[in-house]
Amino acid sequence: MLEKHEDLFSEKVHFYKLDNIAPYNDDIVAALKNYNLVTTYSREDGRQQRLGARQTPQNLLDRTDNPFPLLKSTWHSIVERIERRPVIASKAWAVLMNKSDCQARDSVIRIPHEHHPWHWSAVYYVKVPDALDLENEGAIVFHNPLPYQYANSIRIPPEEGLLIVFHSYMLHGIEHFSCDGERISISLNAVISPS
Ligand SMILES: [Fe+2]
Repeated sequence: MLEKHEDLFSEKVHFYKLDNIAPYNDDIVAALKNYNLVTTYSREDGRQQRLGARQTPQNLLDRTDNPFPLLKSTWHSIVERIERRPVIASKAWAVLMNKSDCQARDSVIRIPHEHHPWHWSAVYYVKVPDALDLENEGAIVFHNPLPYQYANSIRIPPEEGLLIVFHSYMLHGIEHFSCDGERISISLNAVISPS
């Protein structure tokens, strides 16, 4: 597994290119057929907002028939290696996007958001459209946490087999895209033991 650790603003972000991704991705794509996908998000005030994507339930790692055993063990071992403490809770969900999902310009996943109060979060890319314009579309964008530099952002284009691990409080969003094809990613969160 190739790995790279980079400072993004003041934050350490970890990049892993998984070896032999077919077993991960075949499991995931096959399992996705078993889930109902949702397209809206319930806000705390009760209003519904469009996600800008289709998403599975967020408990994929908790199911007794855990369809992603390999991804779960990889995720936990990476976080435990960074923190040298055990993971005590984790969750994952799949995010599927095509160009029609992207028509919600104010969608939840487009606007900057974070995954607090989880400790570590990640995105793993299962599928990236062949025609995606990587220079301009479909990237994850991280925003500088320092308010006076808020406008600064760094975009990282998706790549099949790439796992990007970041602190859950880091602000990020996803760019839309306009080409044919489907972008499939898995979002992951983890909580580590306090000691
Ligand atoms: Fe997110």
